[in-house]
Amino acid sequence: MGSARPGALRPALTRLFLPCTGGVETLLADEVRRITGTPVEATRGGVWASGDERTAMLLNLESRLATRVLWPLIDGPYRDEQDLYAMARHVPWERWMTPEQTLRVDVAAMRSPLHSLNFAALRVKDAVCDTLREVAGARPSVDTRAPDLPIALFVGPEHATLYADTSGEPLFKRGWREDKGEAPLKETLAAAMLAAAGWQGRAEDGPLLDPCCGAGTIAIEAAQMACGIAPGSMRRFAFERMLPFRPLAAAWRDLQRAAKACVHAPAVPVFASDVSFRMTDFAQRNAARAGVQHAIELKTVDALQRLPPTAQGTLMLNPPYGERIAPKGQGTGGQATAPPRAAGAREGFEGGGGSAEFFGALAGHWKRHYAGWTAWLLSPDAKLPGLMRLKESRRVPLWNGPIECRLLRFEMTAGAGPGGR
Ligand SMILES: C[S@@+](CC[C@H](N)C(=O)[O-])C[C@H]1O[C@@H](n2cnc3c(N)ncnc32)[C@H](O)[C@@H]1O
Repeated sequence: MGSARPGALRPALTRLFLPCTGGVETLLADEVRRITGTPVEATRGGVWASGDERTAMLLNLESRLATRVLWPLIDGPYRDEQDLYAMARHVPWERWMTPEQTLRVDVAAMRSPLHSLNFAALRVKDAVCDTLREVAGARPSVDTRAPDLPIALFVGPEHATLYADTSGEPLFKRGWREDKGEAPLKETLAAAMLAAAGWQGRAEDGPLLDPCCGAGTIAIEAAQMACGIAPGSMRRFAFERMLPFRPLAAAWRDLQRAAKACVHAPAVPVFASDVSFRMTDFAQRNAARAGVQHAIELKTVDALQRLPPTAQGTLMLNPPYGERIAPKGQGTGGQATAPPRAAGAREGFEGGGGSAEFFGALAGHWKRHYAGWTAWLLSPDAKLPGLMRLKESRRVPLWNGPIECRLLRFEMTAGAGPGGR
């Protein structure tokens, strides 16, 4: 069984697992390498990095692409819930929590033979409680909302791994969002779009514009990068309450102080706009909470009338799609809201009323006014280049939750140009 035996739970160095959205693994590997300076290994669904408690704290603070930072406790083969109980009994839980603290067990499964994942979680919880009752004379209780020790159980076809989740709330919750808008991107996905485009907020990356900004996620991520603001600097983490991290409270404060000292004036300008005043108002308030109000120029304007704020730059957007957030404004025949979709139309563009018209008009507008710009669009619709009559110069697969999308790059050249068709 397992990589961790009783008495050998916390070596000076461990392997940390950082899960991420599908398609982001190699980008995350690059990011983790940049943050830690140590070798990492990308695998399906995440990245393995080596490090210690300080590395785990640093990655929670600095990673824009990881969903969590998981600390492996034990792993091994299993067939049923009883095997999971026996495996969990090998972990010296008294080193991770006191009986006065609370826990929660979350289970993720891939091709697992188990009938009930809830029962598997219950058996791991029993193992923690039984161990603490034996060792410390009392058992901890469960808190499903804000546990002191969130435990993650991953069960595959034959192999299981238990992790301490050092993040707690997933890392896309940066701590600044209150106003959501209609279909906000997760912050980690917005960061993945920027990373895939190689845009890091440096002067040489040039200005960035999101002309369909909604609640401002892409622009806020970009502006924080341009200002050197650490993504985790506005939230708390589960490790702050875990026993192994208590002796590191001063080191954690040092990391936070060092991150604050790196904040600077924006290295590049970030622009954002939306046709809806409600959305730009949300974006404005989110930007203020994220500490980047001064670094984003926000406007309420139709993307079809939005003129370029600078001669060259990067357009980065996830444009409206589907019935809830279909395009509004000029290119949709002037309708304030989307017309109803055709009966039987699938989610996407094909029945989406003004969508084809909107994307044709958007491409025309960009060809006329945005020569010299590069546009990156995230879309679930394979027909988008056809609707825009543009040929993409790159296509990066990315998952938006359960929806498979592509991030498409279009080079804007004068007239139809080499990028058009
Ligand atoms: C998919 S949402 C973008 C979500 C955004 N990335 C976020 O994280 O909040 C698409 C946005 O496009 C906006 N929109 C629709 N038609 C538009 C138009 N003609 N010009 C500018 N924005 C438009 C909608 O108001 C909506 O906020």
